Amino acid sequence: MAKRIRKAVFPVAGLGTRVLPATKTVPKEMLTVVDRPVLQHAVEEAREAGIEHFVFVTGRNKAVIEDHFDMAYELEDTLKRRNKTKELEELMRDLPAAGATSFTRQQAPLGLGHAIWCARDIIGDEPFAVLLPDMITLPGGRGSRCLQQCIDTHARHGGNVIAVEECAPEDAHMYGIVSVGRDFGHDFEIKGMVEKPPKGTAPSNLIISGRYILQPDIFSILEKGEKGAGGEIQLTDGMIHLQKSQPFHGVRFDGKTYDTGSKIGFLAANVAFALARPDIAPGFRAELKRIVGTL
Ligand code: UTP
Repeated sequence: MAKRIRKAVFPVAGLGTRVLPATKTVPKEMLTVVDRPVLQHAVEEAREAGIEHFVFVTGRNKAVIEDHFDMAYELEDTLKRRNKTKELEELMRDLPAAGATSFTRQQAPLGLGHAIWCARDIIGDEPFAVLLPDMITLPGGRGSRCLQQCIDTHARHGGNVIAVEECAPEDAHMYGIVSVGRDFGHDFEIKGMVEKPPKGTAPSNLIISGRYILQPDIFSILEKGEKGAGGEIQLTDGMIHLQKSQPFHGVRFDGKTYDTGSKIGFLAANVAFALARPDIAPGFRAELKRIVGTL
């Protein structure tokens, strides 16, 4: 039987150059989608999927991330004195349990594979989840978000799991791409993977989209520090190695994924997440209609 997935790694040490100047002093994972940082959306997705321990791989200028997942005594005390019970309850509900977070540092942004390797001692010898926090998801017809669907596939097939989604075939050269083996519909065996294939050579238009379940054996592969596309230590290259000895399955996530690491994706995420919020949607929809009417 597949082992339960208890821990998740959130790599948050990148520089966020695609959303400058916002990210000059504010980490891109702390930019706000509706009323909470992008990173909190990813943590909520992990929590919903049963994750109990949250591992953040941070870097310099990212200390605010640690503070966000801690108590804020003055604020909480002031809310209490002003009888702002609802706000206080929401803050306390979102606070991870004591001891349920770990923070480690990637001293230089050498690539996603290197960032994941930095979490090796905290993860230990058990399968774990990875969430790229700038990719945030809304549920589709199955009613669950992306990590839950990955965990369901892991429970069915074991091994390693990657969430995928379709891209326009002409954009495939910009992403990590998988090819499909035995197909079960919602999920499938991954036959092969390639990071940023040269134009016209991609084996499919299914991109690796930011949620993974990995076996701990990935760490000894990443330890070698081999550089790939862009001179970075790529997670995809590590997974290609691991696939020589272990099965990988892909999940066609049936909801929507937004890449908040790009300016357009960030704006689209704000619109979609606001429209999905029963408390905000009515007022926002009216405002949006007014703006759209001027286009
Ligand atoms: P991205 O490639 O989207 O992040 O990595 P980036 O490097 O910050 O982006 P740009 O291109 O400069 O705008 C996906 C995730 O992996 C983390 C990032 O913080 C992001 O959450 N990451 C990436 C690391 O933690 N370390 C790295 O060396 C690279």
